[in-house]
Amino acid sequence: MCEIATDAAVGFVMSPLGQTLKPCVGVIERYRTYLPVSETTPIISLNEGSTPLIPAPQLSSIVGRGRRVYLKFEGLNPTGSFKDRGMTVAVSKAVERGAHLVVCASTGNTSASAAAYAARAGIQCAVLLPSGKIAMGKLAQAFVYGAKVIALEANFDHCLALIRELSTEPGIAVVNSINHDRLEGQKTAAFEVVDALGEAPDLHILPVGNAGNTAAYWKGYAEYLREGHSTRLPRMLGFQAANAAPIYYDRIIEQPETVASAIRIGNPASWKLAKSAFNESGGAIDIVSDGEILSAQRWLASNEGLFVEPASAASIAGLMKCSSQKICLQCPLRMLPEQATIVCTLTGHGLKDVAAVMSENPQPVFASANRTEILSILKKSR
Ligand code: F0G
Repeated sequence: MCEIATDAAVGFVMSPLGQTLKPCVGVIERYRTYLPVSETTPIISLNEGSTPLIPAPQLSSIVGRGRRVYLKFEGLNPTGSFKDRGMTVAVSKAVERGAHLVVCASTGNTSASAAAYAARAGIQCAVLLPSGKIAMGKLAQAFVYGAKVIALEANFDHCLALIRELSTEPGIAVVNSINHDRLEGQKTAAFEVVDALGEAPDLHILPVGNAGNTAAYWKGYAEYLREGHSTRLPRMLGFQAANAAPIYYDRIIEQPETVASAIRIGNPASWKLAKSAFNESGGAIDIVSDGEILSAQRWLASNEGLFVEPASAASIAGLMKCSSQKICLQCPLRMLPEQATIVCTLTGHGLKDVAAVMSENPQPVFASANRTEILSILKKSR
């Protein structure tokens, strides 16, 4: 297997037959010419990116009409979410500029990623989090990577407003997506989709919170088109949680609420950029309920074998909603040709946030350590 790359020479993993498998380098080494780095930028990487684009046969058959659905599983990044793509660039640039401390506001994943990359860089990290609103796995990550965790009696939007105030302090680098280095890194996910498919998909579906990822994918697809790697742009379709849907309702939501804590955001930083992506691409922004999110999360795990956190299931819930609707004239799904290719980004790993699953109170079947008893249980469950 490959080791963590410290220089580009580590290259690609080869199978026994000599085919090239997963590139064993991070996104800066893989897409250096598209990123704001120079030969002298110190590269802080954990070999993020190069995540699999997994075909979803069950989902494809629900969508029907010969359409193929692929899942870009970003939960397989080093800290378990897509944030690592942007963080490698943001922290590398922060170190290049001489920062000794990186700071961010977060609903959990950005803080986990910032803490990890700061640890890797040997600099400090402080995170502002809405108190009591962060999934346990993400909080554990911030602590174990050694970040200073500051909990505020405030929601994410207020935490981010405070972070903006810190951005002019000397030696401090803000690594939220208001820092464009983050979006630069995140756009590499769109490059990977095109590299894997040989073309841009017809439709790309994302969950939307602070809206940076939507903006980043759109930028990535546009750049790859300009460079001649694809011949078209996808329609971009975003889903917000019904009670945390400022872009959908076109107004700031003062008290956003959803079980999908990662996207509990009422005033997204990249609101305008995301809106242009939806408009220019012929896509749309829509909403899904918490119930739809949780049942999509369970469905995806038990039918496609992929366990994602609730926010990530919003894109699947959205695709299912659009597939079942008979009359929705604006729906980008209706505009797609037969055999169209659809990509959903699964933004974060399910193990980060198991609260919703465990609140269902699943119980094992208790048994004694006895072959006959086990066989009788197995017979009953057939
Ligand atoms: N999915 C997950 C798992 C996330 O953590 C986030 C955002 C999103 C989707 C939405 O992406 O903000 O680019 O629209 N999490 C941020 C955080 C806000 O602090 O971790 P977005």
